[in-house]
Amino acid sequence: MSNETTLNQPTAEGTRLGELWSILPEESSRIDGETGGELAIGGVSVTALAEQYGTPLHIVDEAGLRRQIRRFIDGLRERWPNSEVLYASKSFPAVGMYQLAHEEGLSIDVAGGGEIKLALAAGVDPARLHFHGNAKTDAELSIALEAGIGTIIVDNFDEIERLERLLTRPQNVLLRVIPGVEAETHASQATGGDKSKFGLPMDQAKVAIERMQAHPLIEFEGVHLHIGSQILNTHQFAQAVENISSTGTFATYDVGGGLGVKYTYTEEAPSVESYLDSIVAAAKAHLPAESKIMIEPGRSVIARAGVTLYRVVSVKRTGEVFVAIDGGLADQMDIALTQQRYEAVLANRIDEPWVESVQLVGRQCESGDLLVDGADFPEARVGDLVLMATTGAYAYTMSNNYNGALKPAIVFVQGGEARLVTRRETYDDLLATHAPALGH
Ligand code: LLP
Repeated sequence: MSNETTLNQPTAEGTRLGELWSILPEESSRIDGETGGELAIGGVSVTALAEQYGTPLHIVDEAGLRRQIRRFIDGLRERWPNSEVLYASKSFPAVGMYQLAHEEGLSIDVAGGGEIKLALAAGVDPARLHFHGNAKTDAELSIALEAGIGTIIVDNFDEIERLERLLTRPQNVLLRVIPGVEAETHASQATGGDKSKFGLPMDQAKVAIERMQAHPLIEFEGVHLHIGSQILNTHQFAQAVENISSTGTFATYDVGGGLGVKYTYTEEAPSVESYLDSIVAAAKAHLPAESKIMIEPGRSVIARAGVTLYRVVSVKRTGEVFVAIDGGLADQMDIALTQQRYEAVLANRIDEPWVESVQLVGRQCESGDLLVDGADFPEARVGDLVLMATTGAYAYTMSNNYNGALKPAIVFVQGGEARLVTRRETYDDLLATHAPALGH
């Protein structure tokens, strides 16, 4: 398209489009809309997407996502050929995403019966599933074992007892170990410190490993660690690899996920390549050369490829300028859980000078339902489209029905075409589980 502006091209005066491109999906562009410049993702204009699928809407740049997946798979393979990349599916557990991840050659990290069901429904080979969790129930382990799940990442002694009781055939197993790294991130996202609820400390891990190695049906493969999420200091990953090496010599070391991403104009995040350099350098120094290395990124796979589109419902000028949209906290839980900061843009009028700093608020009954504190906008009007960037990870998955909110739809876009992969929840869906109260 001749009227299209792509990444890094000159930008309209009075806007911060230059910075915006660095956090929008890779396949984002400016196209001529009815009232001037508007954003397109995967070649599809935001206006067309909002009209066809409604708002709030999660939009995924499929080409950018596939490219990012290949950066992980190819990048790790080049540096350490005996390797496997697992997609941490909790970050975006949509059936369309499981299908895409499987097609691209990722294995899948599942953290509960529900994620196993979604992955299997998507056609993922059960041998490529790795089952995590610190409180797996008998029922969930049975689902996993019946499906023929590839690997179980054991968390504790109770789980070993469960497996000893439930196993009827050989099962590959890893053990989650606490690596003793306090990740520099939000406290709720740090999972590798000595007080973590996940995994066993090194001394107990040794006892657990001996017990599992003695069991005829437990095929003990190695150890697993995960120091946390949204980690921007790559030395911490290297430190965890070094620490875990003292647990022993094994066939496999799964060093978890956690690579942080750039959410705001001013933030910087490490590249996939520098993250892999850091892990592999530590592996070369501390792990057996013939061992297999696994990583399990979630956020850094999907965050940038995903955006959320909203429509402006009200603009109120009191002491502040409040721009209220047709969604909120219910579909962006991280603003409250981890105080995550995002950037948003008025997506249907991107050429217009960004003249005021607004409070972008949602419709949930909390003052904490503040999506962006100080978004640079042109003068917003009712009906405008607001795009929140970098919302691919941990937004859809934690969306909920607070204040009767309906979980948004998900659309994948590529080469000017859109395809719906998850429909919006309906009021009937909302009522369905309450049928007993209604006598049916
Ligand atoms: N592996 C394990 C065992 C995990 O627990 C997680 C994330 C990952 C891998 C993927 O980590 P990532 O690459 O996505 O950072 N609810 C929080 C995020 C919690 C992350 C949970 N575990 C949030 O919304 O920020």
